[in-house]
Amino acid sequence: VEQKATNVHWHEGDVIRENRASILGHKGVTLWFTGLSGSGKSTVAVAVEKALAARGVLSYRLDGDNIRLGINSNLGFSAEDRQENIRRVGEISKLFADTGIVVLSSFISPYREDRETVRKMHEAGDLPYMEVFVDCPLKEAEARDPKGLYKKARAGEIKGFTGIDDPYEAPVSPELHLNTAEMTLEEEVAVIIATLQERGVIA
Ligand code: PPS
Repeated sequence: VEQKATNVHWHEGDVIRENRASILGHKGVTLWFTGLSGSGKSTVAVAVEKALAARGVLSYRLDGDNIRLGINSNLGFSAEDRQENIRRVGEISKLFADTGIVVLSSFISPYREDRETVRKMHEAGDLPYMEVFVDCPLKEAEARDPKGLYKKARAGEIKGFTGIDDPYEAPVSPELHLNTAEMTLEEEVAVIIATLQERGVIA
């Protein structure tokens, strides 16, 4: 995105990321959950948040529906708006991760290019980042249809619904690939916690 404001400069503080990490006792990271509507992104994030809290690790969830009711209430579901949605939540995730929080971001984020933008933002800020593919077959997500949105999309009442008449570009090399049809929620949480430990984010 074009930098509109001119004469703006980054202002460094005296308290650095390492200082914040020692206050909290762990590093920050962004876990980016991507997958179809109804794939279970939010369910996994909620369970991970609980497991982290039990370990004394501070985490925070950013979720499509919630964010679209607040800071992104001016965005819809056109390709352009989804791109801006993901750019903003990518930047917000980056700020939280820099604070030292384990950020659990759950967005369909259907376009590969937009997800790559978020990854690059984190790399540029030297912040740990993990893409988690919540892989659920369309058939299964549509059968669950927790909000009745697939039904509406099939009936033509919602236009441009991901998986129906708008694309979902599956990740090619995510850090974690959760096959939700074959794993239990407990297994998914365990894999995520173990990966955070392996990467030295949490003890
Ligand atoms: S995106 O594509 O990443 O910008 O979407 P996101 O911010 O994650 O918002 C997805 C939730 O919005 C609801 N919804 C739609 N999803 C996809 N396509 C269309 N057209 C649409 N309209 C509304 C839907 O409830 C999604 O919630 P989840 O939790 O993913 O099921």
